[in-house]
Amino acid sequence: MSSDLTTGIHDLSFATGEYVLPHTALAAYNGTDIGKYHTGIGQRSMSVPAADEDIVTMAAAAAAPIVARHGAERIRTVVFATESSVDQAKSAGVYVHSLLQLPSACRVVELKQACYAATAALQLAIGLVRRDPSQQVLVIASDVSKYDLDSPGEATQGAAAVAMLIGADPALVRIEEPSGLFTADVMDFWRPNYRETALVDGQQSIAAYLQAVEGTWKDYAEQGGRPPQEFAAFCYHQPFTKMAYKAHRHLLNYCGQATDEDAVERAVKHTTAYNSVIGNSYTASVYLALAALLDQAGDQTGGQDGGLDGRSVGFLSYGSGSVAEFFAGTVVPGYRRHLRTAAHRAAIDRRTPLTYAEYRELHQRSFPADGGDHPTPAQTTGPFRLAALRGHKRLYDTR
Ligand code: HMG
Repeated sequence: MSSDLTTGIHDLSFATGEYVLPHTALAAYNGTDIGKYHTGIGQRSMSVPAADEDIVTMAAAAAAPIVARHGAERIRTVVFATESSVDQAKSAGVYVHSLLQLPSACRVVELKQACYAATAALQLAIGLVRRDPSQQVLVIASDVSKYDLDSPGEATQGAAAVAMLIGADPALVRIEEPSGLFTADVMDFWRPNYRETALVDGQQSIAAYLQAVEGTWKDYAEQGGRPPQEFAAFCYHQPFTKMAYKAHRHLLNYCGQATDEDAVERAVKHTTAYNSVIGNSYTASVYLALAALLDQAGDQTGGQDGGLDGRSVGFLSYGSGSVAEFFAGTVVPGYRRHLRTAAHRAAIDRRTPLTYAEYRELHQRSFPADGGDHPTPAQTTGPFRLAALRGHKRLYDTR
């Protein structure tokens, strides 16, 4: 392996659901002061998938523009990270492989560890690319976050998929070597196989996340990582966007740095634009934070040319249960030529608002488990749809 080989994120694209529920509609239904949602947790709306959308259709919609731009010839591995899996045996990535007509000479696998798995996928991908820099890896993070109706977690639901092409000499972000790792066996959030909605101890989950921030940073520093002041911004996992602010304050305190609100705001603000209107997308969330940061770099630097060229960005990936990782990336000079800002904003703007009653009906939908023929209503206007469940098989179509 050549020592000057750089690896990282060559392209990034995301997709989200057909519908959106504004938090004003949820607040009007349950009598919550809207300030709690808008200010208290930092959320404005949540994406809701149509009846004929799921993690596969969103993943394929996110990855299709990447395949269209770069071709599929060099993609020999697809790693699909999710915690809203649709099958206990078959990887959701195999459906995506088929919908995108990727070459048969390809390995496809699904990874799980709550919201953390996309970062594990990224690190595995980097290892594969270092072994053979001519190959690229398609990493996809796709999730639908679903809590019980009328529970405190309901306001933090969401849905999205992020697809990233990992390769040598990347156009967007070089991923750096030292990683800070942290694992602790906690029951802060989990979903037994027999449940469609997650179980959570909200306050414990926040405490476990902050514990993981400390743990990863301690290990990152011991591995020879950068000091906090070298980072232009920090992309945190965002179950709700206020969590990124809590996490960053906690990190600065832990490092003995001043925690003035301006410093926290500068480090985090530009990473929250997409998560605040999409909601928790679990595995995809930290990479939606990166997408928002890169897409807004012009605003961040007052519109100067270059934006984040050559700047360091910190990533904190947290998955309940829990596993976390802190690592750094360097934004590649000229990255702005490769962004998908207009498509990303369109994915958000194209969503149709739901009334609370429509959202509740979609939330309560699930397929009968009788092996019968269950076509789905044609709702999505996206490129792929889940057409039916027939004989216990999921049938996907290209629209
Ligand atoms: P809650 O009980 O609904 O809300 O739970 P709260 O009473 O804690 O209030 C939330 C904030 O709003 C507080 O601010 C209030 O003061 C404020 P804080 O003290 O935290 O700074 N507030 C107001 N602000 C302005 N105007 C008002 C107002 N009223 C209150 N009128 C909770 C909130 C997030 C716990 C809940 O929604 C929940 O359980 N969510 C799901 C769990 C979660 O997101 N945990 C985050 C960490 S774990 C994680 O990130 C992993 C995860 O993504 C899963 C995975 O890894 O797979 C979840």
